[in-house]
Order: sequence, then C-alpha cells, then structure tokens
Amino acid sequence: MKILIDNAEVECKEGDLLIEVMLKNALEIPHFCYQEDLGADGNCRMCMVEIKGQKRPQIACNTFVKENLEVSTISENIKEVKRSILELELLNHPVDCAICDQAGECKLQDYYMDFGLYDSHLSTPKTKKGKHIDLGSNVMLDQERCVLCTRCVRFTSNITKTNELGIIGRGDNSRVAVAPGHELNNPYAMNVVELCPVGALTSKDFRFKQRVWFLDSTKSICHGCSRGCNIYIDYNETKYSAEKVHRFRARRNNKINKSFLCDYGRLSYKELNENFNADVSHVKDLKELLKDEKKLALVSPSMSLQQLQAVKSFCKDNSVELFSLPYIDENFGDEWLKTNDMSANFNGVKELGINYDEDEFGVSLQEAHVVINFDHKYLKNRELKSKKVVHFTTSHVDSDYELIFVIADFAHDSGTIINCDGIRQDFYATKYESQNSRLVDILEELK
Ligand code: SF4
Ligand code: SF4
Ligand code: FES
Repeated sequence: MKILIDNAEVECKEGDLLIEVMLKNALEIPHFCYQEDLGADGNCRMCMVEIKGQKRPQIACNTFVKENLEVSTISENIKEVKRSILELELLNHPVDCAICDQAGECKLQDYYMDFGLYDSHLSTPKTKKGKHIDLGSNVMLDQERCVLCTRCVRFTSNITKTNELGIIGRGDNSRVAVAPGHELNNPYAMNVVELCPVGALTSKDFRFKQRVWFLDSTKSICHGCSRGCNIYIDYNETKYSAEKVHRFRARRNNKINKSFLCDYGRLSYKELNENFNADVSHVKDLKELLKDEKKLALVSPSMSLQQLQAVKSFCKDNSVELFSLPYIDENFGDEWLKTNDMSANFNGVKELGINYDEDEFGVSLQEAHVVINFDHKYLKNRELKSKKVVHFTTSHVDSDYELIFVIADFAHDSGTIINCDGIRQDFYATKYESQNSRLVDILEELK
C-alpha cells in the first residue's frame, strides 16, 4: 500500500513501523532511542511527526502504518516540537563538542544544527554528573553528555544478557552507571560505544587519536573468525605518518552480524598496522628451489578465493603438493557471533577442493625438501630446520629462511570469502597503495 509522507507517496506494508519505513526510504527522521537491532524505547521523543486527523504529534517509532496515513515531518509545528525536545535533551549538556571524541559523528550535534539553533533558557547552574568514568572493557563514560536513550542499557540487558549497565537516580540526576564494585565486562562490550548516539560512551582504544572527518572508510569483512562480520576499516595517511588503520566499525548486515562485532574482532585492526612495515629480507630465486622433486605448500584458510585459486594454479603448474589447515580454537566460539574456526575462508578451501587432511599433511611434510608457506600461521611455529622454507607472508617472520615475499594483507587486496554459513562476501582494498605486492601479482610474475 501507499502512504503520504511530506506529500510524497511511499510504499510500505500494512503494520510496518513508521520509523522503519522512513529509514528504509532514506527519509530524514531524527531519533536517539530507536536503533534497528535494539528496537524503540519511546523515551527520547525525537521522532515526533504530525499525523493527519490526530490532535497531538506522535512518535514514529511507535506508529504502525495503515491505509491513507498522511504524515508530516516538516510543518512549522513539528519543527518547534523537535526544537523543544532537543532543548530539554541539551539542558544540562556540557556542550563540549570541541574536545569530544564523538564530534563529527554525533546525532546531538547534527540535530542541533538541523532543528535546534536556540539560545539556552537555563538561568540556574547545570546539574553536574560523573566525567571520564572507566567502565571497563575499553569503554569510558561521560554522564553529562548522555541523553538517556538507554541503547547501551538495552544492549546489555536484551542482547548480551549480561545486565552490567542500568539507569540510576531520578529526574535531572538520572544517569547511566554500573552497579558499585562491578564493571562492564563481556566479550561484546565495545558495541555500546558505537550504539551510543552521542559522546557519552567513547572507546579508550580510539579516543583522542583521530578526528573522524580525517578518516577514510572502506567496506570490508573481519578476518578474525569464520563468521565474517561486516566492517568498515577506518584509516588515513597523514603528512607525518604512512597509512594507518585506526579502527574497525560494524557495518550492518541483517543476515550475519546485524550492527555488532565482538571485541576481539573489533581490536584485530592492530595486526594490520604491524603488517604495513614488514621488511623484505634476502629474496633469492624461487624458481631454482622449485626444481626440487619434493615440494609442499600450506596455504592460509583466511586467504580470499582469488588468492586460493592463484595458489592452487601455481602449485599445479609447479608440481607442488598443496594443503590447508583450519585455525581452530575450542575456547573462542560462543553461541552468538564468535566461532571456534578462527579462519576467514575455510569454506573457500573446501569449495576449491584443497586438501585439509592433517594426517596426510604431516606425512608429506616429513618427506618434503622444500616447504612453501602461503601465510599460514601454523608453520611459523613448526620445526622446519632441515627444510628449505619459502614464506609468502603479511607479517614479520624470522629472516633466516630461504626466501621471504611480503604480500599485501586483506586491507590492501580486495577479494571474496565464504563464511561459516556459506555466505559469499566481497571485501575491498583501502585507497592507498600497499608497500607490499598482491599475492596474485607475484604468482603471475613467477609463471
Ligand atoms: S550512554 Fe549513550 S547509549 Fe547509553 S543511555 Fe546515554 S546516550 Fe544512550
Ligand atoms: S565474531 Fe568473528 S568475524 Fe565477527 S567480529 Fe568477532 S572475530 Fe570478527
Ligand atoms: S526514537 Fe522514537 S521516541 Fe526515541
């Protein structure tokens, strides 16, 4: 059916939530407490709209659409309502945007510029609340900046069900807090930073490191485990430093991670910065080594399908026996996002028919004279002294191997991976050139 929003026809289904219809159609609807994966709480009143035939403005996050609905978000009356609500939200706010880490991606800032633009009517001192409170798990709280939308509270009560956060106090003394003697402590805790629409919750890991408007973003996939959570890689290159990744943010995917990431995956961006400066040590001629009869290769199950395919063809052309082994950690997985298979593309290994039998690999390894490691973590720790070892690696390895090729990591080489549920996903390279070559290009050269 069709409804009218600001005199334009919008398609929807009977019973859809008005705010969701508007967001789906990229229509402007200010909101704090509603979040796609947490639902609405109805506490912030920012999503007020006028509905024809109704005396008072209604909240879009609790209005279900029906035939002939006519909605206005732009009438003078509704603008005044929003301005008043915003003024109430900001009454005791410290207005410290200049030193706030959320500046540039803060809903309060945006809405003030869109609807606020008033002078404060407050004639008494502002209510003081707690500043820079360390909640644990890398999360810092500034109670004065909070708009009490309860997103963070609902995340710990409804999603992780760990219940660390609550609202205490009444009236203008209401504040987010952890119970005395407790801390925010669960493997997904840092999601509250991203869920917080304002600068009340900030990441200890990221805060004060970068202004967000200096960052570029690339669509990617977390390589921390086989779930394949969707992320943005936020990075930049400045006059004084080479490219650096500053954070991973969740990219919403309803079928996989919704709006969430685990903290392990979120912080795994740090490995990419270690990789950028890897040195290339004495590169000799690989072709010479390939003349040996007994050659074996082990390929990382986190490589993209394109890389795996290139390795497979290379091995076939040079009569190299190829294996891959998963990265299993029985203690990593849980019943939500994290999986015990900590490789990003083991399903890709299976799809390409690469041998992953550990026993067969063990037998072949004993017999091999030349071992080629395509960035598999496992081989680095193995006793390989009697063999000639070639590493294609994204990170540092000891320099006393025969040959080392440093290759671009997943932030610098686009590709496709298949997650634990068989979902095929693409990821993209950041816009800066990597110092290191792409694996497929090196293998192409070796042909
Ligand atoms: S800390 Fe942020 S997410 Fe939590 S209630 Fe306050 S504004 Fe909302
Ligand atoms: S669950 Fe796995 S893929 Fe998702 S963020 Fe964590 S480590 Fe990354
Ligand atoms: S988003 Fe509707 S009341 Fe908060």
